[in-house]
Amino acid sequence: MIFQKAHHFKGEVTVPGDKSISHRAVMFGALAEGTTEVLNFLQGADCLSTIDCFRKMGISIENTPAHILIHGKGLHGLQKPASILDTGNSGTTTRLISGILAGQSFETTLTGDASIRKRPMRRIIEPLSLMGAEITSLQGNDCAPLRIKGAPLHGIHYHSRVASAQVKSAILLAGLYADDITKVTEPTVSRNHSEIMLNCFGAQVHTKGTTAVIHPEPALHGQKVYVPGDISSAAYFIAAGLLIPGAEVLIRNVGINPTRDGILKVAQAMGGNITLLNVRHDGEPTADLLVKHSTLHGITIEGPIIPTLIDELPIINIMAACAEGTTLIKDAAELKVKESNRIDVMVNALSAMGCDITGTDDGMIIHGGKPLHGTVIDSHMDHRIAMSFAVASLIADGSTEITGSDIVTISYPNFYEDLHRLMH
Ligand code: S3P
Repeated sequence: MIFQKAHHFKGEVTVPGDKSISHRAVMFGALAEGTTEVLNFLQGADCLSTIDCFRKMGISIENTPAHILIHGKGLHGLQKPASILDTGNSGTTTRLISGILAGQSFETTLTGDASIRKRPMRRIIEPLSLMGAEITSLQGNDCAPLRIKGAPLHGIHYHSRVASAQVKSAILLAGLYADDITKVTEPTVSRNHSEIMLNCFGAQVHTKGTTAVIHPEPALHGQKVYVPGDISSAAYFIAAGLLIPGAEVLIRNVGINPTRDGILKVAQAMGGNITLLNVRHDGEPTADLLVKHSTLHGITIEGPIIPTLIDELPIINIMAACAEGTTLIKDAAELKVKESNRIDVMVNALSAMGCDITGTDDGMIIHGGKPLHGTVIDSHMDHRIAMSFAVASLIADGSTEITGSDIVTISYPNFYEDLHRLMH
């Protein structure tokens, strides 16, 4: 797809439902007794992979434009799938489902696309094996395909080396099937959607500092889940609104859970004019975000804020490229093991547009303020790279071509339509 510099960016947008919360609603609904209704479910390819996996395990799921209905069969109601489970491009599906499969009385094989088959799975293989599951990486490389033989599980206290909600959630889900309480301690707090939603379904999850604790064998009951707009998708409109001269955008109904809102704090610290309107606090907090064009300056982004904006670092790089002064990003080595190596990809692609950016072991250094120019950018089949450079192209001189731009269907199927609407 080819983009030109934008001279106008104004209006309202409602971004699709949160990806993390949509996945969890299907999974927990499948493990609950009775029907779960999900409103504003994200119809992105990743979440459809989750639906597909649970259908293969005997769960009836109705997907209509109005809502999703999941007819749960309780904690012990899943059936052995007749074929391999395909998690597509979705790390969340792969890792969370592994936690559930660890506690089943059957064996399953799961795999995904070329990107998933390169992503590290030792981080879940280790704790789930300590709990008693038998997990084999079929290529012997600690990646998918994984064969998971469920077993009666033991409660453990696991100290994770990475702040990862996927790892934490996999262990908590396995903890549903354990013989005792299960605890996970992480270096800094990662997103807590599993903890919040599991409690709504009737589980007992407590958190203290960086430790989450779950009690086994709860009776989970079907719920009505309203999925807020995804702040990770809103991030592209926040950046475009801040960077395009004269822009003003109202982004409606965005989830602002404090374990996810680092983009707002960073954008404001860079000088961004963002106002939170209509803040609501029922379950997951939400707000409308009013974003106005601003002059940004570089900052240092490091430490516990990193997990709260990990998926937004590609678009934060674009903001940093346009900001005056230097932006330093540290403690973000996890970027290397996302859908692509987001340190290498960002450094190469932003350099090609004229930005002064250097990669480090755990982040990047960006000397902002040099004008960006259009070029050809490869998405590396990474949805967040494609969307970040679509925004970069709106402020770059000349035209920018993004190859593999269709990959946005992973998390935001109508992204380009919404972006273009605000440009006219
Ligand atoms: C997610 C957790 C994060 C995030 C991913 C979604 C989740 O991954 O990057 O897009 O839904 O739990 P990690 O747990 O690997 O940090």
